Amino acid sequence: MQRRSFLRACAGYAALGAAPSHSAQGEVQPRAYSRTRLTDERAQPLRAETLVAGRNYIFHYPFEGTPCFLIKLGRPTGRNVRLRTENGNGYEWPGGVGPQRGIVAYSAICTHRMTYPTRQISFISYRERSTAGAAAKLNTIHCCSEHSEYDPASGARVLSGPAPQPLAAILLEYEPATDGLYAVGTLGGDMYNAFFAKYEMKLELDYGSGRARRRVDGVSVVAELGNFCKQQVRC
Ligand code: FES
Repeated sequence: MQRRSFLRACAGYAALGAAPSHSAQGEVQPRAYSRTRLTDERAQPLRAETLVAGRNYIFHYPFEGTPCFLIKLGRPTGRNVRLRTENGNGYEWPGGVGPQRGIVAYSAICTHRMTYPTRQISFISYRERSTAGAAAKLNTIHCCSEHSEYDPASGARVLSGPAPQPLAAILLEYEPATDGLYAVGTLGGDMYNAFFAKYEMKLELDYGSGRARRRVDGVSVVAELGNFCKQQVRC
């Protein structure tokens, strides 16, 4: 997303002293969070060229307990894609960033029943290749819980399954001088309050007391999904 247009959008509600998620017309506005540099697993600034196309990467944003996918699609995405949340509010996903505008990030919390990748297991992931006998289509984010499928090249719009709305988008900035990436906000139907309520006890166990709800500030480590969690369910 162009930094200037994002800041312009945010400036409007900063002046009001709050960050509403919807305008009076029912248009979902971007939510600004801390500008956070993405780093690699050695805590060095991540460079876009080091991402392997088609691979699943996980980082946490905008809270320490909310996982997101970072995916280099290896092809340009759609631009200014019109989408709707479950309650009918519209928004415009700006498209991928970086070389070819092919790098995207989304909340990894499925919008159906909030399946998400944990340290132990992941039922949701991006599928670039087919697995023998697999139900998942290629080039989709697929949730094996009840087979919701999202298109990462079009703002994670729902392709099939019971998901009622797209995955919430994580807004990225690309810095050409360093080939670096920053997370700067979210867009769409985020489900963080419901997520924290549903998984309160598990998040306490996994992240420590009160940590899952802490806002990420400054840096967020990007890890390959295979390093982040022990078992990936393929379906
Ligand atoms: S939780 Fe993902 S499809 Fe049901």
